[in-house]
Amino acid sequence: MHGKTVLITGGTGGIGKQTAIGLAKLGAHVVVSGRDAERGKAAVRDIQEASGHQNIDLILSDLSLISQTHRLIDTFRSRFSRLDVLINNAGMIPASRVDTEEGFQAALVVNHLVPALLTYHLLPLLRASGNGRVINVTGGMPGAGGVDIANLRKPLADQAKIGYGPAKNIMMAGSYAFAQHLQGSGVTLNVTFPGLADTAMTRNMVSTKTPVARLMGALFSLMLANARPEKAARSSIYLASSADVEGISGSYFNPKGKALAWPGSIIRDDLPEQIWKLTLEALRLEPLTAVAMPPL
Ligand SMILES: NC(=O)c1ccc[n+]([C@@H]2O[C@H](COP(=O)([O-])OP(=O)(O)OC[C@H]3O[C@@H](n4cnc5c(N)ncnc54)[C@H](OP(=O)(O)O)[C@@H]3O)[C@@H](O)[C@H]2O)c1
Repeated sequence: MHGKTVLITGGTGGIGKQTAIGLAKLGAHVVVSGRDAERGKAAVRDIQEASGHQNIDLILSDLSLISQTHRLIDTFRSRFSRLDVLINNAGMIPASRVDTEEGFQAALVVNHLVPALLTYHLLPLLRASGNGRVINVTGGMPGAGGVDIANLRKPLADQAKIGYGPAKNIMMAGSYAFAQHLQGSGVTLNVTFPGLADTAMTRNMVSTKTPVARLMGALFSLMLANARPEKAARSSIYLASSADVEGISGSYFNPKGKALAWPGSIIRDDLPEQIWKLTLEALRLEPLTAVAMPPL
């Protein structure tokens, strides 16, 4: 990965930080994003120390807001002339429905709209690198319950409450379509499920509100005991760096980096295209065919 630049959203903690350490060890110039300056600076120090490489940068941005995501894009573009790998790792589990001042549910923005927006606007830099790679990190129980999108005729801003699993399923379906639209661009896009890891996200899921919740929480904590984020970072590191996946796009990988069949509920009928269309509308983006791409 020497000479390559990698942007990892949510690289300041959990699986993203371990992904950053792994890729920095391979020699990549790693740029991580997070929301909090102190946590971000501490993460950069940790990544430098653990990897033995100093070439680590931080860009602050709250990825529940489209406007701040644009700031991340602008900052990245002003500081870097190429992007070899974009890892859309940041994710959130909403405790309850949170609507942002921009009119979207935060869970939908962080888990789906932001990965699409970053990929779309950083495409020229990904193409400039020759064979850019995009890796979208999914979660929940991929495909379970299908895509719980209340009414596909409604814009994404007008959907009923979208939880974590459905938001990730929407991201998966949208990624499947996006990868098809990227064919011939020289940029690949794949989705990976990292597996369970003991991180801030999963620790926050353990509820102590009722006796049943306490029991479930205790069982879940046991499951988390050996679920190291280092292990869950492996698939992203593999997809970012391995020659084995050169040119492979539109695939869905398990925590071991093995390509799996897409869940039928995600790629059924024209669902991916419907989601892609709603995504472009929500983000006010032109269809990709109309976007002037710089020559390779
Ligand atoms: N942990 C698991 O068991 C598990 C299982 C399957 C899939 N996943 C997926 O793996 C990815 C990483 O999860 P994790 O467990 O490592 O989570 P984590 O420890 O909670 O880390 C989340 C990262 O995302 C950032 N982030 C969260 N919300 C953000 C926002 N609104 N704006 C900007 N940054 C934000 C955090 O930055 P701050 O420093 O600013 O908080 C942090 O760097 C997620 O996509 C998750 O869905 C996790």
